[in-house]
Amino acid sequence: MDLDEGWLSRRIFHDQDIYEAEMRNIFARCWLFVAHETQIPNPGDFLTTYMGEDAVIVCRQKDLSIKVFVNSCPHRGNKVCYADAGNARRFVCNYHGWGFDTAGKLQGMHEEYCYDPGDIDKSKWGLKEVAKVDSYKGLVFATFDPAVPSLADYLGDYRWYLDCIVDNDEGGTELIGGCIKSIIPANWKFGVENFVGDAYHAGWTHDSGTRAMNDGNPFPPIDMVNSFHASANGHGHEFGLEGVGDIFLLGRPKVMEYYNSVLRPRMAKRLGERRSMIFGSVASASIFPNVSYLPGISTFRTWLPKGPMQLELRTWVIVNRNMPDEIKEEITTGVMQTFGPGGAFEMDDGENWENCTLSNRGVVTREEKLHYRCGIGRKLDHPEFPGTIYRGQYNDANQRGFYRRWQDLMNAGGAWSEVPDRNSNRLRGRETRDLPGGLLNL
Ligand code: FES
Ligand code: FE
Repeated sequence: MDLDEGWLSRRIFHDQDIYEAEMRNIFARCWLFVAHETQIPNPGDFLTTYMGEDAVIVCRQKDLSIKVFVNSCPHRGNKVCYADAGNARRFVCNYHGWGFDTAGKLQGMHEEYCYDPGDIDKSKWGLKEVAKVDSYKGLVFATFDPAVPSLADYLGDYRWYLDCIVDNDEGGTELIGGCIKSIIPANWKFGVENFVGDAYHAGWTHDSGTRAMNDGNPFPPIDMVNSFHASANGHGHEFGLEGVGDIFLLGRPKVMEYYNSVLRPRMAKRLGERRSMIFGSVASASIFPNVSYLPGISTFRTWLPKGPMQLELRTWVIVNRNMPDEIKEEITTGVMQTFGPGGAFEMDDGENWENCTLSNRGVVTREEKLHYRCGIGRKLDHPEFPGTIYRGQYNDANQRGFYRRWQDLMNAGGAWSEVPDRNSNRLRGRETRDLPGGLLNL
């Protein structure tokens, strides 16, 4: 791959060795989204999810802190919790009855007398805990790597954009209506790269869906002068400044009215006029490595890798906690009609990613390059927007930013000190460093 030239190898979408390296070098090292704080408000509240392919339990403690530990019994490896979410006093393994408290400590087991003195030191056989847990304005992240930079540094300049969705009004956000899971036979990166910057597909792939949702009206035109790609550390937000594109696509007039009359004026006060126009515009975003959202449409999602050619998509509806119930319901209905599993847009995307993944695997096809050069000369210094900025929403800039970070981590061999700074425009000159040969010099 050569991101300065703007092309990628197709191998990264199906190769098993590369996938294993992604699990070690990216998912076992980066900060990964595991929960929203409001999903587990009370002591004993828990949910189960995955960090890479490692199953984990995210659990609220008695002191209201949050612990994350591996959902795998140290006896034979069974999951100690099969449920998606709930409230527990302990987690008891189904297989031989080992029981763990909500902090993951081994408390006891079925027929404990079968162990002779010296067979087991219970204090050493708890559930493995992650290295760090931290949160950013309601979003809880965890990492297996004790050497990872702080969550604030990891998010870097991207926080300016993330605040558009998590901090645009008093009281913060919540995920409502539960979690929807779907399996898509596609590589996890196709979902992330689509949301990080692929405005280009929207007017084409989603043309019929847009017309069906909006009385025959087509996808809003993109203003290539007043629209941008912004990326920092592999995270990215592509956006316009027109204020109403994604809100229009949601197809709920009451939400549009609420946004125009209530939310946008408050947002302008809180985050500034500029970000109030970014929020509702045609926009999409991803947090490296595998979280995505649409600010004005309010879908929030994570792409869980399940092998190189399969992903599990988990989606939620994200709303401001202080919104009237009627507006929350309108937004939920709108999200289901657009980006629910049977939504007008969700199905169009999944089919494309499935076929991208499958066709890239052909033994002859895999030797061909993929083109990621759109807009490569449109980099600019913007006085207001943090991060690395490119002009024009039809652009591959954020995708290049995402894969640059991916490549940095895959090549850094475990040390964060070897991972280049990709946070902002401070980085001058060539977009990527020259990489040594090896597995990932693709
Ligand atoms: Fe959990 Fe045996 S595998 S108790
Ligand atoms: Fe799409």
